[in-house]
Amino acid sequence: MAIVVLVGPPGSGKGTQAKAVCEHLGGVPHLSTGDMLRAAKTAGNLEQGWVDLMASGGLLPDETVIGLIEQRVANDDCAGGFLLDGFPRTVPQAEGLARILGERKTPIEAVIQLDVPRELLEERLVNRRTDKATGQIYHLVYNPPPAEAQLVHRDDDRPEAVGRRLEAYETMTAALLPFYENIQLLRRVNGVGKPAEVTERMLSALSV
Ligand code: AP5
Repeated sequence: MAIVVLVGPPGSGKGTQAKAVCEHLGGVPHLSTGDMLRAAKTAGNLEQGWVDLMASGGLLPDETVIGLIEQRVANDDCAGGFLLDGFPRTVPQAEGLARILGERKTPIEAVIQLDVPRELLEERLVNRRTDKATGQIYHLVYNPPPAEAQLVHRDDDRPEAVGRRLEAYETMTAALLPFYENIQLLRRVNGVGKPAEVTERMLSALSV
């Protein structure tokens, strides 16, 4: 049973690294609250106020995302563990997660924080494109997409929304890191370098 949390600012590479980490943990599912919310939007199941809030770079209410995760981890595929990406982001979300995991009697194994300086994050986000058919994440310069990819540019990757997301991370998530540091779960990983180098650092942080 492995439950691992990925924390890091927007554009730090959480989505890019998730597949390798899930494989390393024995094929556990990748639970990204951002992906879940975007899927709900595409299916027409996300109310317009939340769609607009996401597009502008704001965070959804804690109880909304806690409810989403509580439902998702009750599925059978999560019985052997899971990788959380983008959740929790605030102390109340971390407390909600602790309650959910306490009921299952399954503790968090590690919280990996990806560190990337702000000037690199903006450049990564405005050049990000995702293939809507495969979910594969590309960067127009560092990891250019193939010609056949069906590219989408996220609404919240526009420069004005990127600024708001980075500020939300700095203010709200800043309190989250001491929360996990105090209970000796936090492991900091340098997220700068080639994606494969970052993967290696993350896997060795998990082996400690
Ligand atoms: P979410 O989807 O979680 O977005 P995020 O946390 O802002 O993270 P990103 O997906 O933008 O970045 P990433 O770290 O995954 O980077 P990636 O690997 O793609 O959340 C979106 C929104 O949903 C939130 O703003 C909020 O509204 C809502 N939401 C979600 N969870 C919530 C919660 N818990 N509470 C409240 N609201 C919530 O990489 C980025 C780019 O960099 C790509 O182009 C990639 O190719 C490139 N790249 C990656 N690694 C490298 C590298 N090593 N070198 C060079 N380029 C790289």
